[in-house]
Amino acid sequence: MFVERVGRLIAGEPGPLYRQLERKLCDAIDARILAPGEALPPERDLAAAYHVSRVTVRKAIDGLVDARLLTRRRGAGTYVAAPIEKNFANLSSFTEDMEGRGRTPSSSWITRGTGIVTPEEALALGLSPGSAVTRLSRVRHADGISMAIEQSSIPADILPSADAVGASLYATLGAARPVRVLQRLRAVLLDAEEIALLGIDGPAAGLLIERRGFAASGRAVEFARSLYRGDGYDIVSELGGS
Ligand code: GLP
Repeated sequence: MFVERVGRLIAGEPGPLYRQLERKLCDAIDARILAPGEALPPERDLAAAYHVSRVTVRKAIDGLVDARLLTRRRGAGTYVAAPIEKNFANLSSFTEDMEGRGRTPSSSWITRGTGIVTPEEALALGLSPGSAVTRLSRVRHADGISMAIEQSSIPADILPSADAVGASLYATLGAARPVRVLQRLRAVLLDAEEIALLGIDGPAAGLLIERRGFAASGRAVEFARSLYRGDGYDIVSELGGS
């Protein structure tokens, strides 16, 4: 039974009831008594089980949704949030990665266009000064929740216009997509603009990955900066093995 797993409310404890319920749920999520991805019973059932009003249940759940410990899926109920387990060693695109986990990917454009390489891009992509690159900057979402800010620069002879990119950059690149990458990871504090783009509360930590992607031909085809929100990802690696 849910109440037995999560614990009962204690009569006479100071503070509002919804806070007590919020704390109980929070502790159960922390202790993994409620598993990532698990559905919560409907609000009406929780109210009956805890002998509290639906308003109390709703307020407790609202607090945990704001704290990203719970997620509401429209028409489907409330679930314990499940961070994306990401193996940064694989070469899947954001779209493939999310679809492979049963999530629905989407993006919103921040900027896109074609311009002259910066010295940094020229070095990363092995281009001569004055060459053209196509730049894309997107906020990436999973099930409508912002997950990352990604900026990519692609040599313009490979991608002449960012307008050609629909839902997936790698799908657009086709045979020219990266098959090998060199990347650098570091933890960062998100700045105010990044916090606003991701629509989260600050201060917040993120994981910054800078990648140079090489196509099967050996040519550098993508220079990317991906900023993943710190509370959205668990990094999983397998090392060694036989
Ligand atoms: C991953 C990579 C990015 C790449 C993106 C392409 O997130 N880290 O460097 O730009 O995939 O994803 P999509 O094909 O969904 O646009």
